[in-house]
Amino acid sequence: MSQDCTFIIFGATGSLSRIKLMPALYHLEQAGKLSDGLRIIACGRRDWSSESYVEKAQGWVADTVRGEVDQKIIEKFSSRIQYFKGDLEDQSMYARLATLLQQQDQNNLAFYMAIKPQDFGAVIDQLSDQNLLDESQGFRRVVIEKPFGFDLESAQALQAQIATRLDERQVFRIDHYLAKGMVQNVLVFRFANLLMEPLWNRNCIDHIQITHSEQMGVGSRGNYYDESGALRDMLQSHLMQLLTLIAMEPPVSMSAEELRDEKVKVLKSIRPIKQRHVHAHAHRAQYTAGSVNGEAVCGYIEEEGIPDDSVTETYAALKLYIDNWRWRGVPFYLRTGKRMKESQSMISICFKQPPQQFFKDTGVDAKARNWLILGIQPEECLRLEMTVKEPGLEMRTRTASLDTTFVADGVKTMDAYEDLLLDVIEGDQALFLRWDEVEWAWRIVDPVLRAWATEDKNIDTYQAGSWGAVKSRRLFDNEDVTWRHSIDIEANEKED
Ligand code: BG6
Repeated sequence: MSQDCTFIIFGATGSLSRIKLMPALYHLEQAGKLSDGLRIIACGRRDWSSESYVEKAQGWVADTVRGEVDQKIIEKFSSRIQYFKGDLEDQSMYARLATLLQQQDQNNLAFYMAIKPQDFGAVIDQLSDQNLLDESQGFRRVVIEKPFGFDLESAQALQAQIATRLDERQVFRIDHYLAKGMVQNVLVFRFANLLMEPLWNRNCIDHIQITHSEQMGVGSRGNYYDESGALRDMLQSHLMQLLTLIAMEPPVSMSAEELRDEKVKVLKSIRPIKQRHVHAHAHRAQYTAGSVNGEAVCGYIEEEGIPDDSVTETYAALKLYIDNWRWRGVPFYLRTGKRMKESQSMISICFKQPPQQFFKDTGVDAKARNWLILGIQPEECLRLEMTVKEPGLEMRTRTASLDTTFVADGVKTMDAYEDLLLDVIEGDQALFLRWDEVEWAWRIVDPVLRAWATEDKNIDTYQAGSWGAVKSRRLFDNEDVTWRHSIDIEANEKED
């Protein structure tokens, strides 16, 4: 059972609250994790009453719930919610909010910024001016959604602004990938088993691929996305976090600080990309019209809110090297794209070939590699591929896989936000980003962003429904490397 606290959600009528926050809080209620004293103040600009907000929230929960909505539980959950109408730009709103919170006599407060990133700093200033961030009576925590800044410089400016108002202990910077089941499993797999550790380094690993692909386009988020692009939206944050978990050294303990210290060490060891090497390390492209799952879809330029001359990338691929003892010389290939053939996230680890080819002139596939695949979504699985001999007189081989599928495709699992919201109440920052992590992640991509911003106004393209920009293969160090598209080896061979 969590501590008593009041969650104040700014942006409570927006899509994050609808799709993630309210359903996650309901599921925490269902799991019996919310203390009786937990209250939710939903702040929004719309002229709604608490009754109408609750009615809407019940609908959002019903749309996303796992299983059936339980009447008793939804009533209990609803009784915690109060709607508070207010405009973030109206200074008097913060004084009214402070009065309301005083009346509630609640010592612990968590403010959730489900709002435009440009407003983070100003809202925190206002809360601080109302003395709402002072921890003398109880905890005061602020949850900040991504993106934290637009580039290195703006992230540093935002940090400088909030650091005058908040201690780092009070700041919970969200990267929802860290709370995905399989992502947490990466650490368990690595540090609760000894099996892989002797192989987990430059001696045995050829290269590592981290892929996130989506069938969806930019949808109604065109305005945000066109300013952001794939490198900022997915790669600087989520994929970089996956890389740190795969590459980090065992921490001293699993405490938030020790864990984050090790992740920062990985980011600091990433070889900086020099401006003149950007082309060799990064590739960007934009989707054109095509078909996804048999349905015709428009190109990025034709999407709502996108200017005709936009060169924003919807696909980004990056090659990184980690210059430390464990990883020196092993390329890490990261890629992400919208409107790709399939929606999936996975980490694919390709092992080196044996030092000598004993089966050269037989039917043995000399090119077959051992792959370890960590499927993050939709399938949560761990798969290790090996070459084995087929039964029979001939010397023929095939790839067999040792497969641990935790959650099959289509089964709804716990959403990352459930874990994250509970951690905010409990004050556990292990799954949240410390400022130095964010800053180092920006340092890595900043040279690429700067180069792309100054390059000619043209961009490579790929057809919607494909596996993205074919030219991104030029990033590979060896000609025999290809993108690993599918968890399934046979499907992958057909794709390539
Ligand atoms: C968000 C990005 O952070 O992550 C989106 O802004 C992206 O563009 C989303 O679609 C992917 O998250 P998930 O959990 O759906 O894989």
